[in-house]
Amino acid sequence: MPLLHPSLLAQPALLAQPALPVQPALPVQPALPARPAPSTELAALATLAPLVQPAVFLPPSCLSDEPGRVDLATLRTLTATIAGAPQVWRPVIHHQPDRRWYTRLLLSATVEVWLIGWYPGQQTEIHDHGGALGALTVAEGVLEEDHYDRAWSLVGQRTYTSGDSVGFNIAHVHRVANRGTALATTIHAYSPPELPLRYLPADAACPDATPVGVPAAGVAVETGPEIPRPQTRTAAVLATGDPR
Ligand SMILES: [Fe+2]
Repeated sequence: MPLLHPSLLAQPALLAQPALPVQPALPVQPALPARPAPSTELAALATLAPLVQPAVFLPPSCLSDEPGRVDLATLRTLTATIAGAPQVWRPVIHHQPDRRWYTRLLLSATVEVWLIGWYPGQQTEIHDHGGALGALTVAEGVLEEDHYDRAWSLVGQRTYTSGDSVGFNIAHVHRVANRGTALATTIHAYSPPELPLRYLPADAACPDATPVGVPAAGVAVETGPEIPRPQTRTAAVLATGDPR
């Protein structure tokens, strides 16, 4: 069963709305069979429906219990949809000067979605996504992305502003940073979920660092050789999963 952050569910406040006045029943046409009255159980389910409905449209492929991979276009749409719904992330997001703040919004057998707050000056380490496809959309603020090749060499840089979306293929290596003076908020999605990230070894200097293993194309899930993680990463961060 997919796990959804409460912010992704329709607001329980809907249940607090006063009941609509009962409309007088329309006369039943003689030619139509009489419909049975709803059972108590069905009426209860109807009442609870606002509690279990997602607050935004989530593609069924992103809620699957069957392990698999969601395509890049769907991941980009998913992050853009959530970023475009500030009622989902605005009440939840935090920005902390001492570390990037993040929480997972969705975890299914096919996708994980993260909400991340970037304080000015915060950035990721150089990493890939363990063979997962990925996407991010900037919900607010400005972020820069340094793009690396598989030998850890810098090959380009892009700037994303609010509303920009980008997808990452399985071999993508990058660093994302908030180098501005304002807060930034992003939505990230990865498929398959929970593949371990791989980092540039902390004690290695480019260009002699061990290259990131290149996943074989066409294989459903490839993680490649594990790259030693920098010593600065804490066990607590790794144990709770790591936003990218
Ligand atoms: Fe990343």
